[in-house]
Amino acid sequence: MTALTLSTAGAATLRADALVVGVAKSGKELIVAPGAEAVDKAFDGRLAAVLETLGASGAEGEATKLPAPAGLKAPVVLAVGLGGAPEDGEAFGTETLRRAAGTAARALFGTKKAAFALPVADAAAVSAVGEGALLGAYAFTAYQEVGKDAKRPLAEVALLGAKPRDKAHKAAAERAQAVAEEINRARDLINTPPNDLTPAAFAAAVQTAGKEHGLKVQVLDEKALAKGGYGGILGVGAGSENPPRLVRVAYTHPKAEKTLALVGKGITYDSGGISLKPAGHNETMKCDMSGAAAVFSTVVAAARLGLEANVTGWLALAENMPSGSATRPGDVLRMYSGKTVEVLNTDAEGRLVLADALTRASEENPDAIVDVATLTGAMMLALGSRTFGIMANDDEFRSTVHEVAEEVGEASWPMPLPADLRKGMDSPTADIANMGERMGGGLVAGLFLQEFVGEGITWAHLDIAGPAYHEGAPYGYTPKGGTGSSVRTLVRLAERAAEGEL
Ligand code: BES
Ligand code: MN
Ligand code: ZN
Repeated sequence: MTALTLSTAGAATLRADALVVGVAKSGKELIVAPGAEAVDKAFDGRLAAVLETLGASGAEGEATKLPAPAGLKAPVVLAVGLGGAPEDGEAFGTETLRRAAGTAARALFGTKKAAFALPVADAAAVSAVGEGALLGAYAFTAYQEVGKDAKRPLAEVALLGAKPRDKAHKAAAERAQAVAEEINRARDLINTPPNDLTPAAFAAAVQTAGKEHGLKVQVLDEKALAKGGYGGILGVGAGSENPPRLVRVAYTHPKAEKTLALVGKGITYDSGGISLKPAGHNETMKCDMSGAAAVFSTVVAAARLGLEANVTGWLALAENMPSGSATRPGDVLRMYSGKTVEVLNTDAEGRLVLADALTRASEENPDAIVDVATLTGAMMLALGSRTFGIMANDDEFRSTVHEVAEEVGEASWPMPLPADLRKGMDSPTADIANMGERMGGGLVAGLFLQEFVGEGITWAHLDIAGPAYHEGAPYGYTPKGGTGSSVRTLVRLAERAAEGEL
């Protein structure tokens, strides 16, 4: 775990293995961003000129390493691009800073301690740089030989320019540490291979963290699920040797006035079941529990931040496998709500486990429910692999979630729930089928979920199938593999709940 500190030391005098500065484009010129004045001075005011000679342009994602001149305690200077310089009097955007800090942290793998002299004009900037650095300094090495130095992330990040004695700055750094660590917890869970992260193992991990953070954890095993009539979760888990679980993990605050319920899709592996996915479509399907991981991490983050809200997480955990005991296309499941579902495609399993969890979550009558799921390939076709879709039964709440996501630097877009798509799920045999029209498949899935949300409860659905798992080259603070998508948005929603705004 990377340590994050605020330091009052000057950039020239602080002992560190590397010094991070920001550079930006101002017209055709490269400029050194505020916060690095002392570093520039050590270069006799020629830092920008030196960097230009090395080919630096200040573009986002760019990282240029150079030896430090005498006069700096750190041996290496790393210049990260911040893109275009803001207009006079304006500050760099928080997501720009978050990404630049992440790029720097990735460029410094193998380095022990780095001092970040980036422009931190206010507490929001402190938080963004802190988050970016800790998220960039992430590596999943649990299954690799130790001792590969190149793979060791930064051990220590010192932020310069922030004010450690300023309450807002201190709180911002603490928040950044908690949020980033919880995002990294979600990433670890997502990256853990499915032979180890079974539904029972996931539930056990929640119990362990629950003890540590004072959360109430209840786990329904396959017997309890059968007794309770959770036909959706049981139906999806029926083909696996690793039986399903429904986990309730709750953070409560005595002064809480609002309760936010979060429901996560937790398919520890999605083979498609009897409607087996073809080769090429199942290699990354350990990521199909990313929603549950995000929900779990958010509840822990709420506890670590001591938010004055109740946050209840529901993790619908199952492994979707084909076998002699698996649910068949054509089977009818009786759901927890009492509704019957004709399973036409066993690969549309997420909506089945979520349906039971949504009904169960609704029984507690929370102020709002947000579910998170790697639900449909269709959402990826619609929005690409970096943006999640937001659907809701309330236009205002959908806008709120969208704005909150924007505020914390997560790309998302509001999507509709067109009523005409419902009839595609009409079943001659059951109340509803688990498949509808192919066109608008992400919205069809949203309409299915909506049927299982309790009457009068405000609900939003985040389809994170695109951004949950990153297959391309790392960029900014985003590594290959599990990303922890939606945690920042959910944490901010929980904070809003604590502020009484849900
Ligand atoms: N887990 C998948 C969706 C998915 C695809 C997530 C790619 C991440 C990357 C989901 O369970 C699924 O298989 N959905 C089907 C639904 C269809 C059968 C109606 C899909 O999108 O093809
Ligand atoms: Mn599937
Ligand atoms: Zn799935």
